[in-house]
Amino acid sequence: MEIIIQPTPAGATRIAAKIMADLISAKPAAVLGLATGSTPERLYRALIAQKLDWSRLTCFNLDEYVGILPEHLQSYHHFMWEKLFRHTNISLGNVHIPDGLASDIPATCESYERKIVAAGGIDLQLLGIGTDGHIGFNEQTSSLASRTRIKTLAPQTRKDNARFFGGEEKVPHHAITMGIGTILEARHCLLLAFGDKKARAIAGAIEGPITAMNPASALQLHPAVTVCLDSAAAAELKLQEYYRRAYGQKSDWQKIRPAACRSPSPKQPGKLAAGSCQI
Ligand code: GLP
Repeated sequence: MEIIIQPTPAGATRIAAKIMADLISAKPAAVLGLATGSTPERLYRALIAQKLDWSRLTCFNLDEYVGILPEHLQSYHHFMWEKLFRHTNISLGNVHIPDGLASDIPATCESYERKIVAAGGIDLQLLGIGTDGHIGFNEQTSSLASRTRIKTLAPQTRKDNARFFGGEEKVPHHAITMGIGTILEARHCLLLAFGDKKARAIAGAIEGPITAMNPASALQLHPAVTVCLDSAAAAELKLQEYYRRAYGQKSDWQKIRPAACRSPSPKQPGKLAAGSCQI
């Protein structure tokens, strides 16, 4: 795991944007796993400003609320369209977001998993983190081997997201989310967290035990994870001076990006193919 700590969200976002832009330039038909929430908004603006070619990219979003229309202002369909896709030349046929209105939710979840495999697997999975350590909508106690499925949202998540809906009572109770097992199969995971509200979850995810009580801690099992933090989100990390020094002293030969690596075996997260690299 590579931990990159920058003084501000803007600094941490710049590094994350470079990682994504480098992948898009090196692999124009890459498969991106995308995230929603306030954290990646600045990153999406940075990517839009670079006027990259999105025409051959395929995107899979992490999650979507169940029971709200795609046009709903807080749906993740609407978020992605407004914050990113409409500013790019992405082909709409290459955009995948879970269907929160599907009549057969287990079938739509299975089909989502099959589409990821058919696209060749996710090259880079962008992630935010909830204040309790959830990734996507994999709430605390989610199975670390879980696949795309429906989840009941935790009270804390509904409370945290009430600011978007104008009241907790308006926040849906369920969502479809990629599972932790699904996320761990991405070739590279890029986790972003900003602000002191995320400090405890980040410390648990990076330095705590691997536990379903902090779903992001499952990333410790993945061989290629980059975490971009501002100082506030890094504040509870015990080894922060070590991470700062390691990144500051990183020599050119170490700056291999996992995007250039061979793919991990799809059924064995953490197991890299020959010729791959670790960070
Ligand atoms: C929601 C999303 C997560 C996101 C989290 C944090 O629960 N499903 O993917 O990481 O919110 O959001 P924010 O970035 O707004 O703090």
